[in-house]
Amino acid sequence: MAIDYQSRIPNNVDLSTDRGLQRALEHWQPAFLDWWKELGPDHYQGHEVYLRTATSVDAKGWASFGHVKMPDYRWGIFLADKQQDRTIGFGDFKGKPVWQQVPSEYRSILRRLIVTQGDTEPASVEQQRLLALTAPSLYDMRNLFQVNVEEGRHLWAMVYLLHAYFGRDGREEAEDMLYRHSGDIDNPRILGTFNEPIDDWLSFFMFTYFTDRDGKYQLKSLAESGFDPLARTCKFMLTEEAHHMFVGETGISRIVKRTIEEMQKLGTDDPVTLRKAGVIDLPLLQRYINFWYSSALDLFGAEISSNAANYFANGLKGRPDEESFADHDASTTIEMLDTPNGAEEVPTRNAMNYITRSAYVRDCQVGFTRWNRSIAKAGFSFELSLPSERFNRRVGLWSGFDFGTDGKPASRDAIVASLPNDADRGYVKSLMVAVTEIGKCANWIAPPERGINNNSFDYEYIRAA
Ligand SMILES: [Fe+2]
Ligand SMILES: [Fe+2]
Repeated sequence: MAIDYQSRIPNNVDLSTDRGLQRALEHWQPAFLDWWKELGPDHYQGHEVYLRTATSVDAKGWASFGHVKMPDYRWGIFLADKQQDRTIGFGDFKGKPVWQQVPSEYRSILRRLIVTQGDTEPASVEQQRLLALTAPSLYDMRNLFQVNVEEGRHLWAMVYLLHAYFGRDGREEAEDMLYRHSGDIDNPRILGTFNEPIDDWLSFFMFTYFTDRDGKYQLKSLAESGFDPLARTCKFMLTEEAHHMFVGETGISRIVKRTIEEMQKLGTDDPVTLRKAGVIDLPLLQRYINFWYSSALDLFGAEISSNAANYFANGLKGRPDEESFADHDASTTIEMLDTPNGAEEVPTRNAMNYITRSAYVRDCQVGFTRWNRSIAKAGFSFELSLPSERFNRRVGLWSGFDFGTDGKPASRDAIVASLPNDADRGYVKSLMVAVTEIGKCANWIAPPERGINNNSFDYEYIRAA
């Protein structure tokens, strides 16, 4: 179905045929805009930003690009096309037609899943609201804003589901989405990590590489849901999400590239010398990876989870790429899990968080292969790597234990030494100066190989209106 851009809220859900729903969402819209202006990107709301906007839900050619002031962005409700005769793909109801309405027995679980996912979307916008003030280039600033407006749209996607399918309590939950704020002591965002500000660009690239990728795997699992409107919503969100991970992966690649350049020029890998030259030494990068990766693993929840088993049994949340598994029932099989007491047999359904996380871990490897190849090619022996899944955990089987990045028991001191220290953070902070001249880039990061949408790096991605 084509997207209707004539109505106040762009959509492909035939909003104009449901006047009550349309009115309710039109009522929520100004509150969203107020929130965006107050807690969205600081300082640049009046600038024209080269942004992509969804114009169809086709995988090919779904977006158009143009300069737009962020408050004028056309946030809308876009669901992937309905699949004819779709059936539930896993669990106890496998083979039954998918639900177009919320089954009453799963109403509160589904609402919880949607609210928890939805809450992370505006949270990340709030966490990143000051980043533009230290953007390493206009290209990077534009990418930041693209991520921000799309997280705003993902909020719209979840709020639509709440309004359309959950009646009055759904409307209240939608209001609360704008009422909770990242870092607010009285009304924090639901998940702990989404309350920490992201105030340097290294952390932003780590967030888009590791945390957004967790989002990708949550969305992939929800895109399998037997509740069809949720599945279709998440499916389209994934199309947008790919760019967020591109920002993270290329951001880290460009840092590695710039650092290697300086290592070759100076003929050293000595962090002190490299910091004098204004680049990010690889051991510091590794410590940031250790921190962000271990906290992203926590977002998958406990490895052994009866909630996850229920979601799967009831067809609410599947595994990422469910069709790639041979057995979609998973009620008679076991999974071998690494636990502090040794290998343990766990019923597959109870190990769903672990299975989803394992797919995530494999996906996280992609960038490392590339980064390490370029370091080796330059003649240095340093290797960036993912720390052990046992390292620095706050959730699940390994929380409360002291394990090092190599997965072996370690002292507290050794663990602390593997994480960013005050000097690291202070140094990264000292690098954060805005570069707003067209075609120029900060010293600590290489310019990208190409620009956005076939434009060059020195395109005017942001301009004063
Ligand atoms: Fe998102
Ligand atoms: Fe994202």
